[in-house]
Amino acid sequence: RTSVKVGLLGFGTVGTGVVRIIAAHQEDLFKQTGLSIEIHKILVRDRGKKRNVAGTEHLLTDRAEEVLYDPAIDVVVEVMGGIHPAKEYICAALEQGKHVVTANKDLMALHGAEILTLAKERGCDVFYEASVAGGIPILRALEESFSSDRITKMMGIVNGTTNYILSKMSQDGAAYEAVLKEAQALGYAEADPTSDVDGIDAARKMTILSTLGFRVAVNLEEVDVKGIREVSKEDIAFGKKLGFEIKLLGLAQRDDDKIEVSVEPTMVHRSHPLASVNGVFNAVYVYGEAVGETMFYGPGAGELPTATSVVSDLVTVVKNMKLGVNGQGMVAPYKEKRLKADGE
Ligand code: NAP
Ligand code: HSE
Repeated sequence: RTSVKVGLLGFGTVGTGVVRIIAAHQEDLFKQTGLSIEIHKILVRDRGKKRNVAGTEHLLTDRAEEVLYDPAIDVVVEVMGGIHPAKEYICAALEQGKHVVTANKDLMALHGAEILTLAKERGCDVFYEASVAGGIPILRALEESFSSDRITKMMGIVNGTTNYILSKMSQDGAAYEAVLKEAQALGYAEADPTSDVDGIDAARKMTILSTLGFRVAVNLEEVDVKGIREVSKEDIAFGKKLGFEIKLLGLAQRDDDKIEVSVEPTMVHRSHPLASVNGVFNAVYVYGEAVGETMFYGPGAGELPTATSVVSDLVTVVKNMKLGVNGQGMVAPYKEKRLKADGE
């Protein structure tokens, strides 16, 4: 074989970035993998829509089966979002023996264990680095780099849209609605931005982070969530006077087997590094018993930063294909029951 063929599900903000990065870094990707990575087909809803990458028209289809059941396609990259039909498409791809890369936190937070179990049964890879904190390589860090440690606490600014809104409200006194529109225009917000502003997107990401970081099954329903709708300019100005910034903060902590995860607007003192994470930037603070304090920082959303994580996952899949070790790598499904924080 000389090439790996990719079926792309979705050609919006992230899908466009994936096509651009593969085209721009083709030679370097070849040097790393020894195979050329080719986009073979792209699933979209509306084939008539104008696309931002020239010369891709012949790749477009609005028929999912043309991607999922094409025997030439080795890897399916899901960047369409939502639960249905993304879940059915990913499962169909895995049933066909295709590897999967996804940026879909909605899906991985809710059905990650099921998808990862199916992948293992089929000897396929599923990677989802882009699903949390866009361009920050945090999932692999939790799974691999912290494998020798015991993480007891994580704090995260893990939603770019809300951090963009709160930062602009704090720095420029901008109005909530206007800044939300900007975040949407910049491609940061979800198709339905309710999940951003109500903290649901951050809760999904904290579920994924705590599942990987604590190595137990954490359920989305157990996360206490409050969004930013009720944060006013006055609240922000008042906090600033006292030396605090208001951030939508995800908090995950464990004490023995008891785990608590929450997302809520929080006063962060100016002296803490999380207070100066602004705009679309995200940061994840991780405390490990042995390593102590660490912090990961970078762009949390947007076309190219997010696509970087997706394409890096793709490179890992291709390297695994060469080594014949797909389905054995990162991200085991954690199914064990654990004690709830209230001791039930
Ligand atoms: P987007 O701009 O809304 O693009 C979605 C794409 O999927 C569009 O091309 C759309 O087709 C296609 N699509 C949606 N539903 C479809 C269906 N049922 N059948 C066929 N095609 C369908 O979304 P995005 O911002 O790229 O986000 C994609 C995924 O990445 C989501 O899971 C999101 O949460 C995740 N993510 C996004 C970011 C970010 O910064 N945007 C960062 C990290 C993770 P049409 O173009 O024809 O409408
Ligand atoms: N809507 C998400 C955010 C995209 O604003 O963080 C990145 O996951």
